[in-house]
Amino acid sequence: MRKPTRVLTTALFAGLLLAGPVLAEDLNDPEEILTARHGYMLLMANQLAPLGAMAKGDAPYDAAAAAKAAASLAALASVDTSMLWIAGTETGALEDSDMLPEAVSDSAGRDTRFAELKTAAETLAAAAGTDQDSLKAAMGGVGAACGACHKAYRKAD
Ligand code: HEC
Repeated sequence: MRKPTRVLTTALFAGLLLAGPVLAEDLNDPEEILTARHGYMLLMANQLAPLGAMAKGDAPYDAAAAAKAAASLAALASVDTSMLWIAGTETGALEDSDMLPEAVSDSAGRDTRFAELKTAAETLAAAAGTDQDSLKAAMGGVGAACGACHKAYRKAD
């Protein structure tokens, strides 16, 4: 075996080793999509929770922590989640799903909701590290954007 070929073979083999465990998951499986969608929502809630606590005064205001959480939320809001809104993962089709079928069929409406969330989260990211009042003032927009989408596409309890 000539040397360049051996290097290439080794690189390919290493690549397969790394990709193997990832490819072993069937990312198109409806249950996997549901798990990812719930995880995505929970990640956003994880960022929002400390911001809410600081805005309300339940936790001491910490400019650096607030700026970091708000920047993370804005980053999450700009992720392409189109692969998470797939027929076969709606309420009724999967036991743990609260997603209404409209979240799949009305992709234009969904995009609008996401755009609203992204704008509100960016406004929050710009304000959160300034002071508690600025954080408080920018929280409402994010809460409204989360809530509007839940009202449209999430099954009411
Ligand atoms: C594009 C629409 C949309 C936006 C925007 C949105 N959500 Fe959701 N959210 C949903 C839908 C639909 C569900 C139900 C998902 C399911 O059960 O499959 C959901 C579920 C959730 C859940 C429950 C997850 C679980 O494990 O059952 C939480 C928590 C949540 N959202 C938080 C948030 C927060 C916080 C925001 C704003 C920062 C937000 N969501 C923005 C549509 C949205």
